[in-house]
Amino acid sequence: MLRPVLLLFIFFVTCHAQGRFEVDYDNNVFLKDGEPFHYVAGSFHYFRAHPDTWQDKLRKMRAGGLNAVDIYVQWSLHNPKDGIYNWTGIADVERFIQLATEEDLYIILRPGPYICAEIDNGGLPYWLATKYPNIQVRSKDQNYLNEVETWYTQLMPKFTKYLYGNGGKIIMVQVENEYGAYKICDEEYKIFLRNLTSTFTEDKALLFTTDRPIDNELRCGYIENVFATVDFGIASEAEVAYNFNRLREVQPKGPLVNSEFYTGWLTHWQEPNARRGAAELAETLKIMLSEPYKANVNFYMFFGGTNYAFWAGANDWGIGKYMADITSYDYDAPLSEPGDLTAKYYILRSVIGEYLQLPPLPLPDPSKKRKYESINVTAVDNLFSSTGRANLGSKPIEGSDKLWTFEELDQFSGFVLYETKLPTVFTRDPANLVVEKLRDRALVYIENRYVGALSRENAIKSLPISKGNAGKKVQIFVENQGRINFQDNFDLKGILKNVTIQTFFEPYYEELSDWTITGYPFEKYSQIEDLINSHGNYVYSRSKNGFLYEGPVIFKGTLNISGDEELADTWWSYKNWGKGSLFVNGNNLGRYWSIGPQMTLYIAKEFLKRGENSFVILELQRAPSDLKVDFSNEADYNED
Ligand SMILES: *[C@@H]1O[C@H](CO)[C@@H](O)[C@H](O)[C@H]1NC(C)=O
Ligand SMILES: *[C@@H]1O[C@H](CO)[C@@H](O)[C@H](O)[C@H]1NC(C)=O
Ligand SMILES: *[C@@H]1O[C@H](CO)[C@@H](O)[C@H](O)[C@H]1NC(C)=O
Ligand SMILES: *[C@@H]1O[C@H](CO)[C@@H](O)[C@H](O)[C@H]1NC(C)=O
Ligand SMILES: *[C@@H]1O[C@H](CO)[C@@H](O)[C@H](O)[C@H]1NC(C)=O
Repeated sequence: MLRPVLLLFIFFVTCHAQGRFEVDYDNNVFLKDGEPFHYVAGSFHYFRAHPDTWQDKLRKMRAGGLNAVDIYVQWSLHNPKDGIYNWTGIADVERFIQLATEEDLYIILRPGPYICAEIDNGGLPYWLATKYPNIQVRSKDQNYLNEVETWYTQLMPKFTKYLYGNGGKIIMVQVENEYGAYKICDEEYKIFLRNLTSTFTEDKALLFTTDRPIDNELRCGYIENVFATVDFGIASEAEVAYNFNRLREVQPKGPLVNSEFYTGWLTHWQEPNARRGAAELAETLKIMLSEPYKANVNFYMFFGGTNYAFWAGANDWGIGKYMADITSYDYDAPLSEPGDLTAKYYILRSVIGEYLQLPPLPLPDPSKKRKYESINVTAVDNLFSSTGRANLGSKPIEGSDKLWTFEELDQFSGFVLYETKLPTVFTRDPANLVVEKLRDRALVYIENRYVGALSRENAIKSLPISKGNAGKKVQIFVENQGRINFQDNFDLKGILKNVTIQTFFEPYYEELSDWTITGYPFEKYSQIEDLINSHGNYVYSRSKNGFLYEGPVIFKGTLNISGDEELADTWWSYKNWGKGSLFVNGNNLGRYWSIGPQMTLYIAKEFLKRGENSFVILELQRAPSDLKVDFSNEADYNED
């Protein structure tokens, strides 16, 4: 037994020599317990991987030579509705922190509250706009500040015991996220968030900011007494020097940090899949880790993963050209979407090994993949049928002259159907139906018969309607393709401005009114189950080319994996299908769209089981004539 005096001595030594992570400004290094410390970290977003795979991926990060993991917290995942919180399953962020700790990784925590991350609305919950229609996020708007405080009061105490100063592994905590890129430079908001964050972290972890080294973004995002860092991807020697010099303008001394060194890039639908070269990355990494910089680096992403359900975000790069992100967030990262080691992983690991000691961990082969036997699906019901409406639709709003947005309907994502009668007189044939502010994509029907599509992405705002349709019911089925996650205040969804039809010669536009509005949120899988169990006598019909002329259809099938078969990851190869969402065993695995470039949807084996696996497809547009579902043992991004 130790004598009390000795215990006291140990206590003092511990207190003084340990549990401090700080900046040595004069020597341009971090100090961990008084000793110089460098990190090579990697981003891994827990909300983009099945929780049963977290540990495996964290270990592979450590095996790659990384000594830290960088994580964002997705507010909208944990707080999906006002006052409702979720900390289980994929939302068990505390378990993620524990696993990272066990895998010997330091943790760089980026709680936001805004995170960008190519996630819907940059992680800010949609309901902020339901509650406060005029909210100005990321500013000193009192409503926003109050909600952030409420959120942080729920979130931040969960991290207290994991802070470095309290014996845990969280060494750094970010305040805001690339705030300079938001351009509004609200000093009061920055100070508010710094102070709020530090009430929870005290001095037990280092607060930091991250900004791009362009324009005046570093100055705009810089917060007094908060450690500043930059982010940039592949760069020449001269560009690395330039970028770090920009950081030096706001922070003349201290260690240099690239908080987002881009290993790949995000991809939107209808554009080529993004790739970044491994050799160029390795070269830039070497420059940053060497003299004179000896920088600390975080790979963004080290493992990318999947944008499940309706979480994928979108961009418009500030030029109003809306582009929705694909479901895969593979990102061309060193660990692929299924978590396999890529060639890029090995090259980066060998560079890291020149600067940090590599741990003696095995480098596993890729996990087993399978091309399961094709299965057949059958049509269950149409969304516009009475049973489809009763099971999947919200209680309609009737006789409304106002076009309610998703946010006004208190609906996160999915779809909203707007229905009304066309004018009874057309003197033009065809007349032009115009939806000026559509967010984001609409399938238009007349009396349950498809007539065309409108698209924000492709700037298609109007549709000719032939005279024979005068007086008939028009139905505009609007898809939310994901809220913009960068530089935008709030990308509200639905139809934001009145719908008009040009029934007479110009300039005679008539405004449509008396709308019936029905939401299809697809948030509760039990509603689909109820539909499958209860549906009436739906007769499936479609055109010769497979187009679903009577509206979106739910299909169901069973993937039967026999008892002695090994479970393995697979991909749904959907090239013969159109556009929609896939649910496997009740899990919404994300959107698919055969426009590409993504042509396969990843299904981790953790979503599968031996025996019967339910396979439910919500198809909006087109189904193959054989209703066959094909699997693949590899991802397809329409590349040669
Ligand atoms: C929390 O989220 C998980 C994953 O999305 C979900 O399965 C679970 O039902 C949610 N729990 C609550 C209490 O909403
Ligand atoms: C923020 O914290 C600093 C330092 O504790 C304090 O001086 C200042 O008054 C605080 N500002 C606000 C707006 O809370
Ligand atoms: C699927 O349907 C085709 C006919 O379209 C049939 O030949 C095949 O046996 C079916 N497959 C299964 C697994 O039921
Ligand atoms: C839209 O329609 C409503 C109802 O008819 C009308 O009150 C409003 O002024 C219209 N708004 C615009 C921007 O035209
Ligand atoms: C699945 O396989 C099992 C065992 O081979 C069989 O008993 C069952 O009927 C199959 N289910 C379907 C839907 O084919």
